[in-house]
Amino acid sequence: MAQISGNVPNMDDNDVPDLGRRQFMNLLTFGSITGVALGALYPVVKYFIPNTGGSGAGGVTAKDALGNDLVVSEFLAEHQPGDRTLAQGLKGDPTYVVVEGDSTLRNYGINAVCTHLGCVVPWNTSENRFICPCHGSQYNEAGKVVRGPAPLSLQLVHAEEKDDKLIFSQWTETDFRTDKKPYWV
Ligand code: FES
Repeated sequence: MAQISGNVPNMDDNDVPDLGRRQFMNLLTFGSITGVALGALYPVVKYFIPNTGGSGAGGVTAKDALGNDLVVSEFLAEHQPGDRTLAQGLKGDPTYVVVEGDSTLRNYGINAVCTHLGCVVPWNTSENRFICPCHGSQYNEAGKVVRGPAPLSLQLVHAEEKDDKLIFSQWTETDFRTDKKPYWV
């Protein structure tokens, strides 16, 4: 009897865990890839998240990359007309502060988060556009989308000087680039 049982395909407990192990390995591989992808984006975006939080509905003081209040007079002394510089905006979103040709600050900021999948979009001076490094979306100098796959323009915020600080507040009026109600409100 012992011999017969020896010829039957071996169904010892190793078979059951094998499937489980494979699934576990698949899960681990998926988890690792997803983790790496998210990890690559996370520091870029989180770098600009402020410590204080807040919805930003009533306006927030723009902060530089070190988390200090952006002082307008100092900022203008250090930047040239045409510069687009990232600052912390509403809800900690990276937001471009634009220096106009007459060395004043533009009265709106441009949210740098790509409307495709959320990469931070750098300014390309030679192309005079924002060009997303992730999938190639392009936005004109005012942040209007001019090439996909991004479906929408970059968000706008009001940018207003107050006591030499720059205050960002929500843009709720018509988006002058599309003549439509802002999609982010
Ligand atoms: Fe910008 Fe895809 S995230 S084009």
